[in-house]
Amino acid sequence: MSKQVSLSRYLVEQQRVDGLIPAQLRLLIEVVARACKRISHSVNKGELGDVMGSAGSENVQGEVQKKLDIIANEVLIEANEWGGHLAAMASEEMDSIYLVPNRYPQGEYLLMFDPLDGSSNIDVNVSIGTIFSVLKKPDGHPGVTEQDFLQPGSQQVAAGYCVYGPQTTLVLTVGDGVAMFTLDREQGSFVLTQENVKIPADTKEFAINMSNMRHWDTPVKRYIDECLAGKEGPRGKDFNMRWIASMVADVHRIMTRGGIFMYPWDKREPNKPGKLRLLYEANPMGWLIEQAGGAATNGRERILDVQPTQLHERVSVVLGSKNEVERVTQYHLEGTST
Ligand code: AHG
Ligand code: MN
Ligand code: MN
Repeated sequence: MSKQVSLSRYLVEQQRVDGLIPAQLRLLIEVVARACKRISHSVNKGELGDVMGSAGSENVQGEVQKKLDIIANEVLIEANEWGGHLAAMASEEMDSIYLVPNRYPQGEYLLMFDPLDGSSNIDVNVSIGTIFSVLKKPDGHPGVTEQDFLQPGSQQVAAGYCVYGPQTTLVLTVGDGVAMFTLDREQGSFVLTQENVKIPADTKEFAINMSNMRHWDTPVKRYIDECLAGKEGPRGKDFNMRWIASMVADVHRIMTRGGIFMYPWDKREPNKPGKLRLLYEANPMGWLIEQAGGAATNGRERILDVQPTQLHERVSVVLGSKNEVERVTQYHLEGTST
């Protein structure tokens, strides 16, 4: 019988053999994975589980909350608050940081998450997911403040996402490459299905919301125009397009077969740096992509080097196959037009 490696075993080996992760971080990842299993069950129930539709409320970012946004947020908090591994959490669905209640022991980590990514796809039975990022609480002062969360993505100690699609797949990095785990529903555990995930440096597939084309900045327009020109254009090859509108699902495709994903700044709201959030969307995805050999920038600089100034800060995102991301970044730096 071939050896199956569960997430628990993988983490124990990372801890014991490779000395890569401390026990508290291992516990944290296991707890997040357990929460994702619960969310996956809710997602699967659909109409039968009273999880569809709007919750009739808005989050701090002015977005309508779906029932599942709130359920997933609650599941993650409830699973994580009592284990002693965390000092505080922050989420897309909470205005401010959530301190671990005094009745529980305090740990040394900070957890950030997008509990349910791709909310517009919940009701149409298309892949959605959970994204998370882990930082260490800075030393030197008791308690936790919002400031403690404002660390660049390069400081992350773990990051991952779980995609709820035809399969439920957890994708994880602790800084030693990217591993994928598929949920075995009979066993109720995540099983290692791919290690050392590598994204090809070149691609013929791009993902961007084309309906925003008229609002784009010149470098983005130039890049996409060149892709659309196909074999006869400057790139000399035909490109394909995909847009799932769940970042987790688009990133998962890129993890699997390469590609480039962009949600750039555009002229609709010039003061808004982008749509996606730095701390719990762009940073974890950026690190995962880099760990798989890809690249992630905001068009000009590496996403992981961006110094956050706000908990719910937004950022432009260009990530995926290295050579394509470098090309788009180069177009921005040149500031050229076609
Ligand atoms: P969320 O559901 O957490 O608010 O995130 C949705 C994000 C991202 O997942 C996706 O890539 C993008 O919004 C889709 O945007 P459009 O609606 O412009 O397609
Ligand atoms: Mn999201
Ligand atoms: Mn979300």
